[in-house]
Parts: sequence; C-alpha cells; structure tokens
Amino acid sequence: MKWHLGSFLCLGYLGVAWASSTSNVVDSSYADPCAAIANETWVSPQEARKCFGSFPVDPDIKANIIEVLNKSLAFHASVNYQRQAPPPFEDIHEDVHGDLARISSQDYSSDFDLHLETVHALKRLVDGHCFYMNLCYDSLYTTYLPIPLALLTDELGVQHVHVAPEAFKISSTEFGEELKFWQDALPEELRGKLELLSGAEVLSIDGETPFATVNASAVQTGRMQAFGTRQNMFFSSYGRTEAGWVYHFGDFAAQSLPLKDSVALTLRIQSGSDIAFANLPYRSRLSSSVEPWTNASTFWANNCLATNSTNGVNLYAKPNVVVDSGERPQQPFIDPALVRARLRKHHKNELFDASMAQNIELPAEMTPSSPLNGSSGVAQFYMLNASVTDAPTGVLMLGSFSASSFNELQSSLLDGLKNLKTEGAEQLIVDVTNNGGGYICIAHWLHRIIAGPRGTTVPQAGLQTQTRASPLAQLIVKHIAGGADPENLLLYNPLNWEYANNTPIPGEEDWLQPPVRKTVNGVEDMFSQRLGDECQPFEMDPPAEPLFDSNKVVIISNGRCASSCSLFSISMAKREGATTVVVGGKDDVPQQYCGVVGGQSIRFPNIDTEIKASELAFSAPLCRDHTLAPPDFITNSLHGVTWRLGFGIDDPLEPEEWQDHPADVNFPLTADIVNKPVAIWERVAKTLL
Ligand SMILES: *[C@@H]1O[C@H](CO)[C@@H](O)[C@H](O)[C@H]1NC(C)=O
Ligand SMILES: *[C@@H]1O[C@H](CO)[C@@H](O)[C@H](O)[C@H]1NC(C)=O
Ligand SMILES: *[C@@H]1O[C@H](CO)[C@@H](O)[C@H](O)[C@H]1NC(C)=O
Ligand SMILES: *[C@@H]1O[C@H](CO)[C@@H](O)[C@H](O)[C@H]1NC(C)=O
Ligand SMILES: *[C@@H]1O[C@H](CO)[C@@H](O)[C@H](O)[C@H]1NC(C)=O
Ligand SMILES: *[C@@H]1O[C@H](CO)[C@@H](O)[C@H](O)[C@H]1NC(C)=O
Ligand SMILES: *[C@@H]1O[C@H](CO)[C@@H](O)[C@H](O)[C@H]1NC(C)=O
Repeated sequence: MKWHLGSFLCLGYLGVAWASSTSNVVDSSYADPCAAIANETWVSPQEARKCFGSFPVDPDIKANIIEVLNKSLAFHASVNYQRQAPPPFEDIHEDVHGDLARISSQDYSSDFDLHLETVHALKRLVDGHCFYMNLCYDSLYTTYLPIPLALLTDELGVQHVHVAPEAFKISSTEFGEELKFWQDALPEELRGKLELLSGAEVLSIDGETPFATVNASAVQTGRMQAFGTRQNMFFSSYGRTEAGWVYHFGDFAAQSLPLKDSVALTLRIQSGSDIAFANLPYRSRLSSSVEPWTNASTFWANNCLATNSTNGVNLYAKPNVVVDSGERPQQPFIDPALVRARLRKHHKNELFDASMAQNIELPAEMTPSSPLNGSSGVAQFYMLNASVTDAPTGVLMLGSFSASSFNELQSSLLDGLKNLKTEGAEQLIVDVTNNGGGYICIAHWLHRIIAGPRGTTVPQAGLQTQTRASPLAQLIVKHIAGGADPENLLLYNPLNWEYANNTPIPGEEDWLQPPVRKTVNGVEDMFSQRLGDECQPFEMDPPAEPLFDSNKVVIISNGRCASSCSLFSISMAKREGATTVVVGGKDDVPQQYCGVVGGQSIRFPNIDTEIKASELAFSAPLCRDHTLAPPDFITNSLHGVTWRLGFGIDDPLEPEEWQDHPADVNFPLTADIVNKPVAIWERVAKTLL
C-alpha cells in the first residue's frame, strides 16, 4: 500500500501556519502545540493533550485501525464469552465488534479522541491479553502525582486511604528537580513541605469519598477481571523485574495518558488533627524511549507510524528460499519426531501492561537483602528470620514467568528451592505480586517441582486448552497441514500440539477439522479440539520427590497475578491445596487471587506472520489476500489477543478464565509493613503458617 501520511499532515500544518501568519496574531510556533513542547521532558497534561489533539482524523488511518482490530479479533478466543461474563464477573459485558462498528460510523474531532474511544472499547473486555495501544499516545508520557496512595488498616481494624508512608522518599529520589513544581503548588501553609503529606489520611478526592474515585478508576482501567483487583491497582505496590526491585505508583499517581490536570484532596496530616486542602497538579514526563521531534510533522513521523516490528513478516521470504510463484515447491521429507525434538517452542501467556514498565526503584531500606543461592533475575530466594516463625520458612519472590533466558529461569527455580530445603525450610511463601505471567512451561515446571510427580502434575501440570477456529485460522491450518510450513516455524503447525490424550498430532493433520461448534452467549462460535500437554518431558529433570508439602505453601500477591501466573496459582490452589492470600484488598469486596487466565496470548505481529508465512506453498488463495485477513497497521499500534483458553478445574467443560478464584485470606496492610516485602512475609508467616 502506498502511504503519504507525512505529506498530508505537513499540508495540514502549513495551512495553520499560513492562516496565523497572514492574520499576524499568533506566533507560528504556538500554532503548532507539538513544537511548543519539543525537547521538554516535563510538561503539563494539558500541553501534551494539545499536541496529541492537534492531528485531525485521517479517514484511511481510521479505517485501517478498525479493519485490523475487527479482523484480528477473530483470533481472540474470548470475544463471545465477553459479551456477558458469568458471576462473579458479571460487570464484564462488551460487544467489541458492535463497538467498533459504532466507532467506525461516528465522527471525532481529532485522531486522539478516536484513539481514546478505541482503547476504551477494548478495555471494556477487561482482559489484559486483549488490548489496543498506539505508542504515538499511550505511554509517550507518564502522568504523575508525587503522592502514591495505599489502603491501610488501623489498630481498630478499620481501613482508610492514605498517602503511602514512603511517598516523599520515592518521589524526591525519582523526580529530582521537578519536585519543586509540586512543592510550589501546595497551599501556603504547606508550601515546600510535601514531605508532610507522606502517610496522611485521604478524606476526600475531588470532593468525594476516596472510594468513589477508586471505583471510578476500577470501572474503566480494564486489564484484570476481578473488580477487587482493579481497585487494588489504584494503589502503590512493589514488584521484581530482571533488573531489580521496583515500585509501582498505581493508577492514581501514574497514568499512561495525560487526561487529568489536577486533583483536589482533603487530607488529615499524620498524627495531627489538622485538615489540609490541596489541589495538586498532575505532571507528564516524557518516556526515555521516545524519538525526539521538532514540530507536529516530525512528532508524527517519528512516533506515530508503523515500525519494523509493528506487523508480521513472511518468514519464508528469505533470499535462500526460492519461491516459484504459482508452483507448489517440493515438500522436503520431515520426520515429525525429529522436528518436535529440534524445535521446542517456549510459548507465552502474559499481560502487556505499559503501566508496569516504569522501573522506579524500590528504596534500598525497603528492599529484601542478601538473596540466597539460586536467585537470578525475576526469581529471588530468602529465608525468613528464625525468630519470626515456628517453622523455618523459605520465600520465593517471583516477579514474572518471563525472563531473557528460559533455561536460566527454569534452573534458577529448581536450584533456589532446593537450596531453601538445604537451609532447612519446611514451609514456603511464593510472592507473585504484580506477576503478569510469561512462559507457560515455567508455570507447569514450578507446579511440578513443588508438588512432585502425581496425577495432577504428570503427564500434565497445567490446563488443557482450545484455540478459536475462525474460518481464516482453518485455512491457515489447512495450508500448513499441506506442507506450507516445512521448517515448523508457525504456531498453527500441528507439530506443536498434542491431542487431549497427550499424544502428538502428526504434521500432516488438518487439526482444526472438524471445528468444535459451541454456542456462547447465544452466538455460534467455533473452536479447536481439546489440546493436551505441551511441556513434558521437561528439558531438565524434575526431582522425584515433592520439594514442599503443598499444604504448607502460601501464595501471596496484590491480586495482580495473571496469565501464566494464574496457571501456576490455580493449579497449586485448586489441585494441591496451597493457601492463597491477597494483601491489602478492600475488606468488604471479594478478592480473587489471580485473573486473566488465558492459556496462551499472542500479539498482532504473530497473527500477521501466521497469515503471511503460510502462503508459501499455494498460489491461491493466498491467506494474506483473503478478505478475512487483516491488513498491516500503518500506525505505531500494538494489539494482542488470547489465542488459547485453558479449560477449568472445577468445571472442566468451560474456560477457567471466568471461574471463581477466591483468595483464602484478604490480609490487611498496616502503615509499618506496606510495600515492605520482608515485613509482609514475616507478618503473613507469623499469622498464617
Ligand atoms: C531542541 O533541541 C535541539 C538541540 O538540543 C535544538 O536544536 C532545537 O532548536 C530544539 N527545539 C526546540 C523546538 O526547542
Ligand atoms: C467486522 O467484521 C464483520 C465480519 O466480517 C463485518 O460484518 C463487519 O462489518 C465488520 N465491522 C467493521 C466495523 O468493519
Ligand atoms: C465501590 O464498589 C463496591 C463494589 O461494587 C461497592 O460495594 C461500594 O459501595 C462502592 N463504593 C463507593 C464509595 O462507591
Ligand atoms: C518540521 O521540522 C522538520 C525538521 O526539523 C522540517 O524539515 C520541517 O520543515 C518542519 N515542518 C514544518 C511544517 O514546520
Ligand atoms: C528495526 O529497526 C530498528 C531501529 O531502527 C533497527 O535497530 C533494527 O535492526 C530493525 N530490525 C529489523 C529486523 O529490520
Ligand atoms: C552458594 O553457591 C556457591 C557456589 O555454588 C557455594 O560455594 C556456596 O557454598 C553456596 N552457599 C550456600 C549458603 O549454600
Ligand atoms: C533477625 O532478627 C533479629 C532480631 O530481631 C535482627 O537483629 C536481625 O537483623 C534479623 N535478621 C534479618 C535477616 O532480618
């Protein structure tokens, strides 16, 4: 496709510049709100919005985004389930195709307004696997307040919203000079004394009771199915990445779009009866990964157009592969067993959550020290102080099921847990706070090595799954079964999958035939047959004995444990009897210990690659020319879907996704332990183990 967006926008801007220069009223630099904030690291949300809002809707771009999403959603297994989710998730009811049709026929005053509508339509699926983003706008800036909040429980057991006790410490370290902006914005009696706000009780937010604001955020934030978890995400929390311990400001104090200008707060300053009123502005900080710009046209050209990773590629369009168009190439002999052994793929099930990517460091005094042997990247091991617990207690902090090396994470988990045993641990806390998932087989592995070889872990330690069998997916599989993926590079290759009885599907099997027809919320849908294990035998030998008694395993988090983290936690809780704990949830709201179970998640480039690459052996019909095939995105867009859904444990005929995962315990956070991992683990161990 030929695309001349740059010239279109330049014309738009020349028009504005021309109009202002002839009238001689407006300085031409002000006519371009993107030029006005070029080179600025910190801007007001309003300034950022003016730049974002200055691009008119381009009908071709609008049609492109709607078409990509509408066609790509055929690969999202949950579309019809999400028309109306069952209790306890009945607040999820989105007809996403209907919403896209509405957006398509509606006029918007700017491309940014259109963008917001599109993002919100997908957020209403409340599914962190199925999202739409455009890096032209989303997370280009992060919009901050210097006062992350926490939901704390007092001595009488009553919960109140507070400014996090560590707020000033974190903000002064992270924001440096910019803090002065907020210091100066405080009312006279507090000016320059931002520190006094740390720990303050929040009596009202924008004139309403704090939980009215928490709820409003929970209604629109998307990502996690449980309402309680979405409330928890309003507050600050911690996490562990490969690089180190991180602090998350939460949805109140860090937002990925510059939509809110300020917040009016009524506060009770700590240990005093003084009531303070503060009107604090939000400030937007430019992401370090953004390409600099000088004016609107370079802003657009550098940040808003598709990059070389936005779309998929034809993996077979390599110089060394001769494609004689129109003719079916000789099919090489492929020994399915050999290919299976050679090409083990590490499929992922994980959230894409821009709000988690800020990498703000947890202050040293809150960070667990001296991790034990086996600790590596996202997996960190500790022993709790013997004086704290009756029985020696080991801790595994697992911040993610993803890592730069699958093998290292796999061996780290085994080495670390074995080492905890050597250190004498008799019970185990697994902290999966803010763990958004990752490798499916690492989830199975961790379950298997903790629980040992049993009926619930061998031959499969996870859930059986199904993928959606849309007409285009069926065509892709038909092509691959006919030889279109000789190197077994594609997801739909039967050589990746096993039947429900855990025997391999042969490479020439058209495995989506016949599709399994199912009526979901009154709509006819089609799925694959049930798929079995994909991880065993593991690439590393698991121990012959359980490493821990699962009844002495406690899994704790803020509820935001998703995807592969859900696969692990659900197996441990429902099959092995592990205890699940949500830390810091609202006491009268049911807490789920995980959500967004999925089965496998993929992004748009994966879908696009399946379509583009599976055409090799066929002159017609080429998948990419099929009327159901999405075109390439022309914008800097990201989109993902749930490609497979795991079947449930309690109800094995329905997806686990919308089955109940009630936490055994909703553990209160007090001012002395909030966001301090060791203090939380010790309190949990003392109380529950
Ligand atoms: C941005 O910075 C560059 C180099 O630092 C400078 O040449 C340019 O004029 C600046 N642009 C604006 C709009 O301030
Ligand atoms: C989405 O796709 C469906 C099925 O192909 C089609 O009927 C519908 O018109 C499309 N909607 C939009 C908004 O393009
Ligand atoms: C927030 O939502 C919960 C759950 O729906 C509800 O029980 C509570 O009353 C709401 N609180 C406020 C202040 O609206
Ligand atoms: C925008 O900036 C680029 C490079 O700095 C320049 O070449 C172009 O003429 C500018 N466009 C407008 C409309 O000012
Ligand atoms: C994609 O673009 C980036 C940045 O321009 C470049 O570093 C990278 O090599 C490119 N990758 C491919 C596969 O072309
Ligand atoms: C940790 O591992 C190192 C190297 O393998 C070993 O020398 C050391 O003794 C181990 N420490 C403990 C406490 O097990
Ligand atoms: C263990 O507890 C003792 C006594 O309370 C304390 O001095 C020590 O620092 C603690 N050790 C760790 C590793 O927390």
